[in-house]
Amino acid sequence: MAILITGASSGFGAAMATAFVQAGYLVIGTARRTEKLADLHAKLGDRFQPITMDMTSKDDIQAALAHIQTLPEYFREIDCLINNAGLALGLDRADQADFTDWETMIQTNIIGLTYLTRQILPKMVENKRGYIINMGSIAGNYPYAGSNVYGATKAYVRQFSLNLRADLHGTGVRVTNIEPGLVEGSEFSNVRFKGDDKRAAQLYEYANALTSEDIAQTALWLYQRPAHMNVNTIELMPTTQSWAGMQVYKDTPPPPPPVVEPKPADFAPQPAPQEESGFFSKITSLFK
Ligand SMILES: NC(=O)c1ccc[n+]([C@@H]2O[C@H](COP(=O)([O-])OP(=O)(O)OC[C@H]3O[C@@H](n4cnc5c(N)ncnc54)[C@H](OP(=O)(O)O)[C@@H]3O)[C@@H](O)[C@H]2O)c1
Repeated sequence: MAILITGASSGFGAAMATAFVQAGYLVIGTARRTEKLADLHAKLGDRFQPITMDMTSKDDIQAALAHIQTLPEYFREIDCLINNAGLALGLDRADQADFTDWETMIQTNIIGLTYLTRQILPKMVENKRGYIINMGSIAGNYPYAGSNVYGATKAYVRQFSLNLRADLHGTGVRVTNIEPGLVEGSEFSNVRFKGDDKRAAQLYEYANALTSEDIAQTALWLYQRPAHMNVNTIELMPTTQSWAGMQVYKDTPPPPPPVVEPKPADFAPQPAPQEESGFFSKITSLFK
């Protein structure tokens, strides 16, 4: 039985592949960049099987699943799917963001993840065992400016994970959503800032962020929990990160009223107020 990790060419995926192989498991790692997967294969040996696969293509996913059936027998059954491949693109305001970036995030983080899960699940249910570990994010739990579609895709991943738990009731298949905060040592921000590596590096400067190895050890710990125990969600942040205060947008103050110079007539004596007369003046005089 093997662990299938998507997005294994860098960051969390590569760290998870390393941690699982070092712990004695068999790992299949997928991503688009064949050469990065080959490097990992060279490092980890044959307990790691690389397969090139683009999460945005159903045909690619089908081809990769067919490829798995040609691997040595022990790799052919997937005991744990780690849906880790994903990305954020840009931090632009919703009215200025590039729509193709939004489409790419939806295709990868939502549609690819959902399609692959649907392909893998029937065998797990048949086996009455298996584990789906999804890579969510704190961006799925808390809004922030510029997170727009990225955060929404991760909110989908969170809810999909919880709903899978409900559907898989009684099957023995476990589901967890890992929700990390700021993590350094991956290509996440280099991808988000489209190759502006300086800007990406500044984000982590002196931040003492979590590392890809922290996430890998978390995934390994989850997998090694006994079969009767399901961690539904696990949210992790570096100690240095917490919730920001609500922001308040302040409008520009209105201009002061124009200064009106007093005219001499304004200082002329005013006539004394007239005495009230008649019925109402008599009544009010009773209360004086
Ligand atoms: N770093 C953080 O602060 C952070 C925090 C919370 C959640 N996350 C989530 O954690 C996951 C891993 O991110 P990371 O930080 O390790 O970033 P990363 O180093 O950029 O890794 C992303 C992985 O996803 C793969 N990928 C992207 N698009 C793909 C596609 N269309 N088809 C196949 N594979 C694709 C990449 O491989 P190829 O480019 O080779 O295809 C790469 O292996 C993502 O889902 C991310 O949203 C990250």
